[in-house]
Amino acid sequence: MQPYEPRSFSLPPIEGISAKQIEEHLKLYEGYVKRTNALYEAFERLKRNDPDPTLIQEVRRRLGFEFNGMRLHEFYFGDIEHGAASIPDGWLKEAVTASFGSTEALRDALKAVVARGSGWAIVNYDPVGNRFHLNWVDEHHIGQLATLPIVVAVDMWEHAYMVDYTPGEKMRYFDAYWAALNWETIARRASQWRTA
Ligand SMILES: [Fe+2]
Repeated sequence: MQPYEPRSFSLPPIEGISAKQIEEHLKLYEGYVKRTNALYEAFERLKRNDPDPTLIQEVRRRLGFEFNGMRLHEFYFGDIEHGAASIPDGWLKEAVTASFGSTEALRDALKAVVARGSGWAIVNYDPVGNRFHLNWVDEHHIGQLATLPIVVAVDMWEHAYMVDYTPGEKMRYFDAYWAALNWETIARRASQWRTA
């Protein structure tokens, strides 16, 4: 099994989020990739060397934290690559408009979800129920909605903004990240989810 490789991202200067903040955050992302790989190595070591299944069971519990930490950061950085872009015409724009009125109204609704607390502010889309969910994921794994694709994942951990902002200024960081989103990337991903 090949280890996961950290992705590299083509990130332009971002208004409201400094290059230093991004640099430090990318180091943390790479740490999640390393720890995910290290867990798989630990599984193999334990299988070979330890007849007691308890340890491997406990180590496996770490996978949701490390793997989701890796993958969520790939959405986070991937969705701001190549500069901001507004939402293109198409089904996603129509669905967001029908549900919220506009992407700005969606932003404000999501802000209300995460005004307190750390973790991730996630917009999911449910192709089965044909609706969006605004979701708070604590840490990286607690509260994930099974199978639902991610529209937007906003990192609300303090490490995502503490180079630039105080904890009390968290919503300024949220607004800066939201303004940097490339909705063409998001709409391209969403084109796979349309069910009708
Ligand atoms: Fe992060």
